Formats: sequence, structure tokens, C-alpha cells
Amino acid sequence: MPAFRKHDMLPSPRHDEQARQDFVGSLRGHLSGRLMPGAYQVYSRRVEPALRAELGREPDENEVRRAMTREPYYQFWSAMQRRSQELLWESVIDPTERELPGLIERAKARRQAPASRKGQQRGKASPAVRRGSLRLDPDLPLPRYHTTVDIHLQPGAYHTDSTADDVAAGAIYDKGINLYMGGALGAENDLMGDTLVAYVRQRHPASRPRRILDMGCAIGNSTVVWARAFPQAEVHGIDVGAPVLRYAHARAEGLGVPVHFSQQNAEQTSFEDGSFDLVVSHIMLHETSKPALSRIFAECRRLLRPGGLMLHLEIPRGHTVFEQFMHNWESYNNNETFSRYMTRIDLAAEARKGGFEASKVRVDEFAMEMSVAQMNYAENFVWKILAAER
Ligand SMILES: C[S@@+](CC[C@H](N)C(=O)[O-])C[C@H]1O[C@@H](n2cnc3c(N)ncnc32)[C@H](O)[C@@H]1O
Repeated sequence: MPAFRKHDMLPSPRHDEQARQDFVGSLRGHLSGRLMPGAYQVYSRRVEPALRAELGREPDENEVRRAMTREPYYQFWSAMQRRSQELLWESVIDPTERELPGLIERAKARRQAPASRKGQQRGKASPAVRRGSLRLDPDLPLPRYHTTVDIHLQPGAYHTDSTADDVAAGAIYDKGINLYMGGALGAENDLMGDTLVAYVRQRHPASRPRRILDMGCAIGNSTVVWARAFPQAEVHGIDVGAPVLRYAHARAEGLGVPVHFSQQNAEQTSFEDGSFDLVVSHIMLHETSKPALSRIFAECRRLLRPGGLMLHLEIPRGHTVFEQFMHNWESYNNNETFSRYMTRIDLAAEARKGGFEASKVRVDEFAMEMSVAQMNYAENFVWKILAAER
């Protein structure tokens, strides 16, 4: 697995904990690189021809699911994939629980202490050092799409505080998504932010946003990328989860990147009308709900100044029926309950429902150019991007 950059909010695994994490990483690599392709073979050689003969047409996703879930090879891969996800969280939770008191103290200190100069430009007087901030709202109602199940099996998901000033969900998510993606999200889980920044630079080269909002920012892994890419901009990150936001703030301050984090629902925020040049999100939409989508887009439109830009980066849902079935494994087996509906939702139509003009909305597939050193098992990551101008 490519190296993951250490920062001081990440727990340090002991020898055996590290071995478990390494095992999970290689198990997942084996499952996706060696075993999953076999499911494609089972489908194309046996299941698809039988279904076509029986139905006299191409099967739909539900028919593929019914047939594939009877196949022992698929059953084995699916059971192992599910277990690898459970092992993944277990391997990250142990070191986090052990180091939690220290992580909480560090995060609290970052909220109180004067700005660290680490990572800031040398030679500047202290008053010029910019700091981020954290604003939590304990009364914010959590959306039902977050409280009904633990999304992607992460115990307590993004929002559960198990102790005062908790940051555990953030530490668990940070290392968890690194393992989940086999390191492919980059040394600071920054690939999605990098990709969307590359999209802006390529498609909107004149864009110089002065105020940027990242919705569903979680631990701020993508938010920090925006603050670094546009250092003159005031950058905000919102999320519904308090523990991930405490972690995000402490992590960003430790990296010397000023970001203003607040606990808010993207469906309705407290920011003023027309107060942002750019509103973005990275893999947030598929963890919401159908009614939430148009409300979020309407909120983005309200927040953008005329000419401002909304960008949502999402996971593509597959081009063939079989690819869609395999993508939607996450919905049926990994508590990504809404994501399967995204396969058939027309995001451009939802953006129009949110008030954007049809001629100013587009959905693109986009991959950032990567050097060979950045690549993992995929040559290039192709993402789906919903873009709309106010
Ligand atoms: C898959 S995580 C993505 C985190 C991050 N953007 C990244 O780049 O890795 C989705 C995040 O969206 C947040 N989220 C989902 N619905 C939201 C809403 N309505 N308002 C604010 N945050 C939301 C979740 O709490 C979670 O932290």
C-alpha cells in the first residue's frame, strides 16, 4: 500500500495493531484485485447467458442480483468482503481507543491555544498568522439518513460522541478510508480534493474564489486541499457530525491550514445569501436521501453569489448492469443504504429542481492526470462531477 503521511491526530498503532492493519490492507487488495474479477467471469460465462436464454432479453439489476446471490463463488467473495470491512474498523478502533484521552486533549488545546506557526510562512509577524475555528451546535437535529444505520458499518458512524469532546469518529474515519481504498486516496486522503481542484483549474481557469464552502467535510481531508490551493480564500467546512468536526479542526490546525468548521446540515445552513463563490462536496450526496438532494442544491444556489459555482464530486455507479450490481454491493452489504438509488437518479434534474437553470448544469466524468508514483491499482480514478453555475 502507498505510504500514508503521519500527522499528530493519527493514533500510532503498536506492532500487533500495525500487523492487523497491514493484514486488512492486503486482504482487501486480494479480494478486489484477485477474487472480485472472478465474479465478472462467473457472470459473463455462466449467469448472463443463462439469464438471457431464460428472459429473452438483457437482465435488469434485480434479476442479476437474484441469480448472482445463488452463486457460491460470489457468496464467498461477498462474505469475505463484508468481513474485511468489519476487520477494517476493528483494526483502527483499538489504537484509537488506547490513545483517545491524548487525542482529545490535543484537540482541546488546539481550540484554545494561540496559533501554531508550523506550516505557516516564515518571516511573518504573529498577528498575520491565520487561524481556523470550530463552532458546534449540540441542538442540531441529525438527519434520519444518518441515525438509522451505521453508514458503511463504522460503529457510531460520523456523529456519535462516546465521551465528552470525543474525536474518535474522526481518527477512525481517517485511517479507515485509507485502508478501505488501499491507500489510493493519497498520502493525506487528498485525492478527491485534488481532483476537484484540477477540474476547476481545467474547466474554470479564471476562477479565483474568495469564499469557499465544503459540505459534508467530515475530517476536512478535502477541505484542507481547497485552503492550500486558494490560500487567499476564506474556507469553510460543514458537517452534521460533531466528533469528525473536532478532529477536522485539530488536524487542520496541526497542519497549519486555516479552515472554519461548523456543525450544520447542508440542507439548511446559517450562512448568508450569496456569500460564497464556490460550494463543493466530495462523496457526500450518496450518503443523504432523495428528498435531501434537491434541498441541498437549493441551499447551494441560495449561498452562491451570481456567477458562483457549485461542484459535487461523486462515485460513478457503473456503465453496465453488472457493474451497477457490483457497485451496489455497498448498499446491500455495507450500510450505504441510499447509494444504490443514486444509480438511477438524474443529478442534473435534481439540480434544476433546486433552482439552477438547465443551461448552466452539467454532469461530467472526470479523472485527474496522475504521475505513475501517485497511481495505485487503478491507472486513473474517474469520478462523476455535478457542476452548476448560479
Ligand atoms: C463519505 S463522507 C465524505 C467526507 C469528506 N467529504 C471526504 O472527502 O472524504 C460524507 C460526509 O458527509 C456528511 N453529511 C452527510 N449528509 C450531510 C448533511 N445533510 N449535511 C452536512 N453533512 C452531511 C457526513 O456526516 C459525512 O461526514
